[in-house]
Amino acid sequence: MKSWKFILACMSFIPAITVLAISATLPDHAETFHNAPASVAGQENPYRGQRNAEIGHRLYEQRCALCHGQNAHGAGNVPSLASGATQTAKPGEIFWFITRGDIADGMPAWARLPEQQRWQIITYLKLLQDPNGLRLPASSGMGTAGDGKLNTPAPTPPFTDFRFEKPGTFRKINLQDLPAPFATTPVGNGPRIVSRPEDAWPQAPTGFKVELYTTGLENPRLIRTAPNGDFFVAESAPGRIMVFRGISPDGKPEITSIFASGLTRPFGIAFYPLGPHPRWVYVGDTNAVLRFPYRNGDLRARGPAQHLADLPSGRGHWTRDVAFSPDGKTMFVAVGSGSNVDDPDTHPAEKDRANILEFNPNGSEMRIYAYGIRNPAGIAINPQTGQLWCSVNERDMLGDNLVPDYITHVQPGGFYGWPWWYMGGHQDPRLEGKHPELRDKVITPDVILQPHNASLEMTFYEGKQFPREYDGDIFASEHGSWNRSTRAGYEVIRVPLHHTGHASGEYEDFLTGFVLPNGTVWGRPVGITVAHDGSLLVTDDGSNSIWRITYTGK
Ligand code: HEC
Repeated sequence: MKSWKFILACMSFIPAITVLAISATLPDHAETFHNAPASVAGQENPYRGQRNAEIGHRLYEQRCALCHGQNAHGAGNVPSLASGATQTAKPGEIFWFITRGDIADGMPAWARLPEQQRWQIITYLKLLQDPNGLRLPASSGMGTAGDGKLNTPAPTPPFTDFRFEKPGTFRKINLQDLPAPFATTPVGNGPRIVSRPEDAWPQAPTGFKVELYTTGLENPRLIRTAPNGDFFVAESAPGRIMVFRGISPDGKPEITSIFASGLTRPFGIAFYPLGPHPRWVYVGDTNAVLRFPYRNGDLRARGPAQHLADLPSGRGHWTRDVAFSPDGKTMFVAVGSGSNVDDPDTHPAEKDRANILEFNPNGSEMRIYAYGIRNPAGIAINPQTGQLWCSVNERDMLGDNLVPDYITHVQPGGFYGWPWWYMGGHQDPRLEGKHPELRDKVITPDVILQPHNASLEMTFYEGKQFPREYDGDIFASEHGSWNRSTRAGYEVIRVPLHHTGHASGEYEDFLTGFVLPNGTVWGRPVGITVAHDGSLLVTDDGSNSIWRITYTGK
C-alpha cells in the first residue's frame, strides 16, 4: 500500500506521457540489477560483520571462485563481482539474483544454499571494494596443488584435454563429431592459478627453444609488433599500453616503456596507415576506439588520445580487437556479446554486439561486417589472400564438448549463428523455434577447435626463422576457460595453411605445459605476435609474462 501511494505521489508531478516514453525505451537491465523487483532492494543483510565476511569468503571460494575467479575479477562472460554492477547493486537485489540464477547464461541458482550462507557471501563481496574493508585472512584456496594427478575419464577423440595436448599432435574436429546438447552436464571449472613451479616450462615441438622474454607484468593481453620492430602490449586491467624494445643477447627486452595509461580496458592495437611509417597507434578500448599520434621509435604517446568512435559496451565480453583492410580504407573492430546466449530480439543490450563491425579509419560510418560471432576475440588479415580472419569463443552451458571454439576467414555479410544457431544448422536448444529463416545462412567455420578452449589472439607467420613449412600459417593462443569438466586449451596452436592461404580444418598443438598434472594452472596464453627476427612472442596473463619461441633446429 505504502509504495503504491508513493509511486502515485511521484507520478502526479510527471506528465503521464513522459512516464510511458521512459518505460518504452528502458533497456532491460538498466535500472535494477538483473530486473530484480523493486520490493527486494530495501531488504537488509542480517549477516554482516567480520565473522560473517570470513565465512562468506570461504563459501565464495568453495562455490563461486571456480567461475568468477579467486579474486572475483571474472573472465570471459563471467562478470567481475569485485567491480561493476555487483558493487553498486543493493544486497537484497544480489540475494534475489543469486537465489534465482540465470541458468541459460551460465549462472547457477543458489536456492539450495542456506539463506544465511547466501547473505554471508554477499557480506564478503561487498567488502571487496570497500576502502575501509575488514581484513580478510589469506586465501584458503580450493583443493591443494598437491602432486596427485587428475584422474577424470580420458576424453573421446577427436576431443581432448590438457593431459593429452602435446606439441606436434595434429587434430581435426568435424561437424559430425559434435555431441547433442547436454550430452554431459555443464560444469563450472575455472582455473585455480598457482605460481609456476620451478620445473614447469612451456613445451614446443622438437627444434624449438622457449625462453622467458620478460615477467612481472600486470595482466598482459594483446601483443602487436610495430613496423619498427617494437612490441606493443595491452595491459588491460591497469589500463596501459606498454612498449618493449629489442632482444638482448640473453633474450630480454632492452627498453621497457609505458606508451599510454589511464585507459578503460584496452585490448586491440593497430598501426595506421599501413606500411613502414604509421602516424597513429589505434587502441580498442572496451567502450571506444581511440588513436594516439605516433612516429616510429616513439616510446610514449606524443600527444593525447583522439576519440574516434564509441563502441557498444556494458556487461560481458569486453575485448575489442582492431585491424585494417589491406587497402587501408576499412577499420574492423571485433565486439563480443554481452551475455552467453541472450536473444538480441528481447535483450536490447545485445544490439550491435557479437559482430565484427567496420568503420572508416576516422571512426565514422559504423556498419556490420559480419554477425552472429559470439566473441571474436582476435582478428587478423591473411597476408596471402587479404581476407579478414577471426578467432572466436563460442557459447557455454551445453556440455563439455559443445560448442567448439573456432578460427575462420570471415565472409562479408556472413552470419555465424549466435545466438540461435551454431556450426551450420544446429539450433541452440535454449532458443528453440527462433529464426528458422536463418538456418541455411549459418556458415560453418574453417577450423573447429576444442570446445571451451577460449581462442584469443591469432597471427599469421610471416617470419623467416621457422622452417619453410610454417610460412603463412596461423598461430593462435588458447586461453582455456571454465565450462569443461577437464580443461582444454591453455596452449598455443598452429593452423597449417599449406602455403595456400586456406585452412583444411586441422590444427596442431604447438606450445603446451601451462597446466599441472593435478589440473591447476600456472600460465594462460593470450596474445601472440611474430618478431622481426622471426621468433614468436606469446603473452601469458597467468604468470604475467611474455614467452619467446625460437627455432634452433636442435
Ligand atoms: C558455473 C559458473 C558460475 C558459478 C559457480 C557462479 N556463477 Fe555467478 N555468474 C556466472 C555467469 C556466467 C554469470 C553471468 C550471467 C548473466 O550474464 O546473466 C554470473 C553472474 C553473477 C552475478 C551478476 C553479476 C553482474 O554483474 O551482473 C552475481 C552477483 C553472481 N554471479 C554471483 C555468484 C555467486 C555469489 C556465486 C557463488 C554462490 C556464483 N555467482 C557462482 C557463472 C557462475
